[in-house]
Amino acid sequence: MLLPLVLVMMTMISCLEAVGTNNNYNNPMNVVIKTQTFSTPSFTITPGLVIENYYYNINFPKSHIAIKSFDVEVVDESGNQIPLPQTYLHHWELVRYYQHKNATNPTINTPYHELQEPNFIMASNNGVCGRNVLTAFYALGSESRKLSTFLPYPYGIEVGNPKEIPADYEERWSLNVHAIDTRGAENKLGCIECHCHLYNITKDRFGRPLTEDYKGGLQCCYDKTKCRVNVSDGEDFQERNLFVRYRVKWVDWNDFVIPLKVYLFDVTDKPLPGSTGASQQHHCLVEYDVEAESCSLTKRLDDSKCNAVKKSKVMFPTSGYLIYGVASQHIGATGAAFYGEDGRVLCSSSPIYGEGNEEGYMIGMTACYPKPGSMKINKGEMVTFVSNYSSTLTHRGVLGLFHIFVADEIFKSSSSTLSEEVSNDNIIVM
Ligand SMILES: *[C@@H]1O[C@H](CO)[C@@H](O)[C@H](O)[C@H]1NC(C)=O
Ligand SMILES: *[C@@H]1O[C@H](CO)[C@@H](O)[C@H](O)[C@H]1NC(C)=O
Ligand SMILES: *[C@@H]1O[C@H](CO)[C@@H](O)[C@H](O)[C@H]1NC(C)=O
Ligand SMILES: *[C@@H]1O[C@H](CO)[C@@H](O)[C@H](O)[C@H]1NC(C)=O
Repeated sequence: MLLPLVLVMMTMISCLEAVGTNNNYNNPMNVVIKTQTFSTPSFTITPGLVIENYYYNINFPKSHIAIKSFDVEVVDESGNQIPLPQTYLHHWELVRYYQHKNATNPTINTPYHELQEPNFIMASNNGVCGRNVLTAFYALGSESRKLSTFLPYPYGIEVGNPKEIPADYEERWSLNVHAIDTRGAENKLGCIECHCHLYNITKDRFGRPLTEDYKGGLQCCYDKTKCRVNVSDGEDFQERNLFVRYRVKWVDWNDFVIPLKVYLFDVTDKPLPGSTGASQQHHCLVEYDVEAESCSLTKRLDDSKCNAVKKSKVMFPTSGYLIYGVASQHIGATGAAFYGEDGRVLCSSSPIYGEGNEEGYMIGMTACYPKPGSMKINKGEMVTFVSNYSSTLTHRGVLGLFHIFVADEIFKSSSSTLSEEVSNDNIIVM
């Protein structure tokens, strides 16, 4: 049921559109950028508890559009953002799928790999990890706090094109959200990194025993698992109802939009030898561990000391111009970069850490906005992804993902009438 609820006007929406972009490229045609903010149904959380929900058929613009940005935050019933040391947003993913008219809706606990054809068809990004792995348009986490996903004019992600939706299917959207309540936790970083002993977990969500050497990561903090909290803690942590609020900006499809291909690359990817190009077979593990090194003598991070470097070399599946890029990493990260075959830096994305009560938490990543046309990648080019972490401490279940958005062309030759700019932001609660 849709219950439109117009709230206080969101402040200065138009300011956001200039973030990280050159104004000349921003919106010279004054094509209308629309904004809508939605909220998922609430979830209830108590100290130590993990929730991993798959919200299906979420509210989303239903027409033929180009997505300009997508942002997510966790809020309480009054709409206040929750500090990361209270509820840690481990990750979220925005996934598109086609649902057959006859199919019944999946439940909130249905993971994506259980969506089977013919009832469901995953309408994935452009690659590269393969079936059911990193198929999202965006896969981010706590760093969404301060991370720009805005795509400069005239670029956008084309969705809702009726010609692409198979007959008898409907295009729908899903948001996968994984959050951990770390109030009162004995070891907050351990809970955030899903250290298995803190969750008292020895079997995965399907009841299969985990191997001895699996010490932490998502297999130990699936939905409804609980991280250890201090038994006699003075503070009384109430159960609370939270929501995921997400904001979509888009333009209605028009002749000036240049569609982007969306790729998610993973530094753990080990393409199978012998497989090439578009048929290159990938093996993305998503998570990896960083083992602590004894390097207490030097506090400085330099090339050799306490820097865990993870690299993956893969074949770029298309040719195009890099328009936007951003990495996704976890606490402990020191930076990530993406290189061409000749060693040129195509995109470098650095973590932003919080201050005050969010000190030590990853709250953002810098995004790349190369001057359109300046970064060309060739089809079949061997590109390298690098993810660096500080190894002064051991880190479990870290990430090194890259969102890489490319355009086939830079400008469209046609030009046109100007249209009026409007911003109609309102909040819709399901
Ligand atoms: C869908 O339902 C219609 C009528 O209820 C039926 O004729 C058709 O065979 C069904 N299609 C599938 C794929 O189940
Ligand atoms: C819980 O107890 C541990 C060990 O006594 C302590 O280090 C930690 O700071 C406590 N956590 C909180 C949230 O008070
Ligand atoms: C840990 O799990 C085991 C078996 O699943 C259970 O017997 C034990 O009581 C748990 N320990 C704690 C501290 O919850
Ligand atoms: C990662 O570490 C390597 C080796 O020290 C260094 O050359 C590179 O510049 C680092 N990259 C980033 C993005 O931090």
